[in-house]
Amino acid sequence: MGNMTVIGAQWGDEGKGKIVDLLSGDVDMVVRFQGGNNAGHTVIVNGERYVLHVIPSGILHPGKVCVIGSGVVLDPRTFLEEVDALAAKGIDVSPGRLKISHRAHLIMPYHCALDAAREGAEGKIGTTGRGIGPCYEDKKARIGIRAGDLADPDLVRRKVTEALREKNVLFSALYGVPTLDPGEAHAALMALAPRILPYLADVSSVILDGTARGRKALFEGAQGVMLDIDHGTYPYVTSSNTIADNAAVGAGVPSSSIDTRIAIVKAYTTRVGAGPFPTELNDSVGMHLQQKGGEFGATTGRARRCGWLDAVVLRETARLCAPTTMALTKLDVLGGLKELQICVGYEFQGQRTLYPPQGPNDLEHVTPLYESLPGWDEDISSCLTWDSLPANTRSYIERVEELMGVRAGFISVGPDRRQTIRRHGV
Ligand code: GDP
Ligand code: IMO
Ligand code: MG
Repeated sequence: MGNMTVIGAQWGDEGKGKIVDLLSGDVDMVVRFQGGNNAGHTVIVNGERYVLHVIPSGILHPGKVCVIGSGVVLDPRTFLEEVDALAAKGIDVSPGRLKISHRAHLIMPYHCALDAAREGAEGKIGTTGRGIGPCYEDKKARIGIRAGDLADPDLVRRKVTEALREKNVLFSALYGVPTLDPGEAHAALMALAPRILPYLADVSSVILDGTARGRKALFEGAQGVMLDIDHGTYPYVTSSNTIADNAAVGAGVPSSSIDTRIAIVKAYTTRVGAGPFPTELNDSVGMHLQQKGGEFGATTGRARRCGWLDAVVLRETARLCAPTTMALTKLDVLGGLKELQICVGYEFQGQRTLYPPQGPNDLEHVTPLYESLPGWDEDISSCLTWDSLPANTRSYIERVEELMGVRAGFISVGPDRRQTIRRHGV
């Protein structure tokens, strides 16, 4: 495999962190290209659990260069907390191997305040509250603060003052929440600058110079395709593009330099926050998936909604991202269920459809069409070869491959690096 992009195929939390960590052994650089600390990527190494929010999941492999691209929105406070937590565990987080694009936009406290104010008590979208949407809004409005701006305190002061001139009106007149003082906001940010500035780099050159010398890069997606701002279940989405081709844009490399696209598919479906979810289960099977799968958010701790695998979603991801391989995760969680269901299509307005309908609320009005497969009772978490998997597990995997039209090069049967079967020559 050459340079590769790893993306979530569903609504996030598919197990990207685990697979990126595994693949980091095969590459030299790991690059985040979108999203921010709304992500929570879990990696378990030798029984120790790490949750990475904005630092690439390759950081646990000594010597790998980890890059935060210009498409990422970076909260400098939480970035430094993550740096400190990793350093306390003996991980090298020095600027020699961890790089931030000068062009990455900074998440400011007023972005978090605006996120919270818009969500209100009821949590309209169910965002992670990390200020992601408001930060991307400022970027598009061309009033954002970029990491490289930290070298120019006067520029930052002007930008903070300008941003708060507008946002304080919203805080006081519209939302009735406390306004923020520009001087304090500026001072708080500039206090962090000496620790952020050493990490800044021309990351596009870092990646391209590396690949020109035969080094390999892995582009680590956050969230999942159904949370894509254009192609997901709008408005219940995140504020960035999560599809595979955004890796090139968000990292600053030509798309022709990436030849492998790996879609991470959880063997069932989960989603956090509000929004349509056709195969959601509010019964004992949903409870089985949540409990056995430990389906609680790695960022916010919220319980994840659970349901059957949805092949309509997988087909949509396949056509939007053209994955060259799939990593099928959390198969062990399905063990113990007598019968498994896969949604193979939807009934919508009296017709059978294989792709999500496009109208604003259409997904709320589809009926999933299920196919049943026999389950298995065995604990597969120590199966490390294809042949050692129960016949019913193999049939399930083969059916998922058929429905998505993508072969499963990785089969994950537990959270640890080692609990992975590789096949089809990947
Ligand atoms: P990400 O956001 O896509 O990186 O996924 P999260 O880390 O938010 O959630 C995935 C959860 O499933 C984490 O707790 C992982 O440790 C865990 N996990 C990953 N792969 C497997 C697997 O094959 N089996 C089990 N049981 N857990 C897994
Ligand atoms: P990883 O990378 C699951 C969801 C939120 C909410 C919506 C918008 O760990 O898979 P935002 O804070 O981005 O404005 O929230 O997107 N969401 C995620 N769901 N996994 C994630 O990341 C998510 N990041 C955001 O729950 O519904
Ligand atoms: Mg996650």
